[in-house]
Amino acid sequence: MYPLRRNRRLRTNEAIRSLVRETIITPNNFLVPLFVVEGKGIKEEIPSMPNYYRYSLDLLEKEVKALWNLGLKSVLLFVKVPDSLKDNKGTEALNPSGLMQRAIKTVKNTCPDMLVMTDVALDPYSSYGHDGIVENGVILNDETADILGEMSVSHAQAGANFVAPSDMMDGRILTIREALEDEGFIDTGIMSYSAKYASAFYGPFRDALDSAPVDMVNVPKNKKSYQMDYANRFEAIRETEMDINEGADIVMVKPGIAYLDIVREIKNEVEVPVAVYQVSGEYAMIKAAAEKGWLDHDAVMLEQITAIKRAGADIIASYFAKDVIKLIS
Ligand code: PBG
Repeated sequence: MYPLRRNRRLRTNEAIRSLVRETIITPNNFLVPLFVVEGKGIKEEIPSMPNYYRYSLDLLEKEVKALWNLGLKSVLLFVKVPDSLKDNKGTEALNPSGLMQRAIKTVKNTCPDMLVMTDVALDPYSSYGHDGIVENGVILNDETADILGEMSVSHAQAGANFVAPSDMMDGRILTIREALEDEGFIDTGIMSYSAKYASAFYGPFRDALDSAPVDMVNVPKNKKSYQMDYANRFEAIRETEMDINEGADIVMVKPGIAYLDIVREIKNEVEVPVAVYQVSGEYAMIKAAAEKGWLDHDAVMLEQITAIKRAGADIIASYFAKDVIKLIS
């Protein structure tokens, strides 16, 4: 067809490029992860996540307002729990006046229309750093799922709009859905981390929450018995379909950039919204390379976020949310 078809015509200048651009990033796409700590006046930088912070509740208010003013209307809450409150069953997770429960109320009081999602898993509360109860070197599935159900109810009672189970126990979506329904929380949604891989990209997050598996006899050294093998693709579809059948409103693929083949496949397969988590290690890699002057921070950030959406993400959980919105607005 040359020269009738010259594809470069649609690339001649920014006006035509923006006219035909297929993937547009807006504040509506983002879910902003927030790390919360006990105390007052605390905004501490996470060493392996430059320019990302843990906030005490008073400063969380300020941050939530700043997000809202940028058009970022959804947050995903994580808490850093002191060692003294950790045990094998994550008992503190059910404390009605625990840090998570207070954080939910703080966000809702500050910004009532902000969508609050909460991480549901035992690891920040676990003395062993696992997402489930540890017994004789294994992670107990059903006993853990029951606790996750109670934890979800506790978050709903505090005002959470969505719970986001990130643990990968089998059957926990159904257990959580039933627990919420039993308590009348019919409008509390579930965003399931449905295809969550056992990834080395979670390192900085575990620094942020001090939640890495501990090195002890009879405690598994990694999360490979519940998180998925990164060599697998069909398993991601099975996991996701199972979670939808059990009642998940939103499904998630995690991590992001290295798993965009899975994102596209799931997007083609399912009819519920698909979220993607661009995880802490992905954030840290860009920060580190940019710090060295080896990569253009903003350009790489925008390219990766756009690639995640192009692959099929309806929702992107990202530590870059604020930076991206500031850059493009
Ligand atoms: C814990 C949880 C993890 C992340 C979200 N929830 C870590 C893990 O599974 O070890 C990782 C997020 C990130 O790396 O940014 N259940």
